[in-house]
Amino acid sequence: MQRRTILSLALAAAPFAARAAGPVKVGFLVKQAEEPWFQDEWRFAEAAAKDKGFTLVKIGVPNGEKTMAAIDNLAAQKAVGFVICAPDVKLGVAINRAAKRHKLKVMSVDDQLVDGAGKPIADIPHMGISGYEIGKQVGQGLLAEIKARGWKLDEVGVLRVAYDQLPTGRDRTMGAADALKAGGVPAGNVIDAPQAKTDTESAFNAANIAFTKNAKFKKWVAFGLNDEAALGAVRAGEGRGIKQDAMLAIGIGGSQTALNEFTKPTPTGFFGTVLISPKRHGYETAAMVFEWATQGKAPPPVTLTSGILMTRANQAEIRKQMGL
Ligand code: GLA
Repeated sequence: MQRRTILSLALAAAPFAARAAGPVKVGFLVKQAEEPWFQDEWRFAEAAAKDKGFTLVKIGVPNGEKTMAAIDNLAAQKAVGFVICAPDVKLGVAINRAAKRHKLKVMSVDDQLVDGAGKPIADIPHMGISGYEIGKQVGQGLLAEIKARGWKLDEVGVLRVAYDQLPTGRDRTMGAADALKAGGVPAGNVIDAPQAKTDTESAFNAANIAFTKNAKFKKWVAFGLNDEAALGAVRAGEGRGIKQDAMLAIGIGGSQTALNEFTKPTPTGFFGTVLISPKRHGYETAAMVFEWATQGKAPPPVTLTSGILMTRANQAEIRKQMGL
């Protein structure tokens, strides 16, 4: 009798023992694994995993199919949840449904997931930036440098490398354009250059077309949703003889894409970037999902992080300030 009790106790405890024995797994899914920004996020998420004692499962999800497969994969691995920057924010409903079906906690980073009507999905916690405010910082940075260079506002072409299907992309570039207009740049000088993807090559192609169509401008400022977009415009300008003395671009991000430009022996048209925090976006989101799943502590519904203008001149000091 006594032996049977001990045996049944042991059996009853077994599932918990098994779960506790393996490390807790948290997924981190990103739309563009090759982009330095996402590499940085992953690196900081790894640091959180090390500090808190969980295993990070990193998966690149370049399209919808791979996204849904990755969520199934996480469930099969018995992960407890995941952080995601989806390839298309309209996948929000499908992602939320899959997460619920598998009992996985889900939190978005960078790109807030939306429902069928384009509204943010309230029950998926989010960490990102205020796109419009960060965009305004870009525009104000450009204005200050236009003035420092003594350029006439009405002679400057404004290249908005646009990726408007992504709300944060639209907000960022609209914020920049609005700040420039508020500072006195004629609205008619703002030229939209829609990019097909959010990488440098797509921005390069978009900018080339815009430069060809608007050859009357001899001086340009350029920006986009990220550093790659701004850099694509700079490279396209260089190819057409619009060099550093006639081009002023400010990106958003501040990861290796920007740093590589700053370490070139001579300055390029890539004047600066609004440095945002891959550390907060990577470390904190991964830690939040882990604590949510294991301790029941839900993340705040929305966390917006701030940015700061970083240029070739102040990069070391600014990066230190941001804990990078
Ligand atoms: C979006 C962009 C990325 C990066 C992040 C930062 O996802 O596509 O390049 O700027 O936002 O939040």
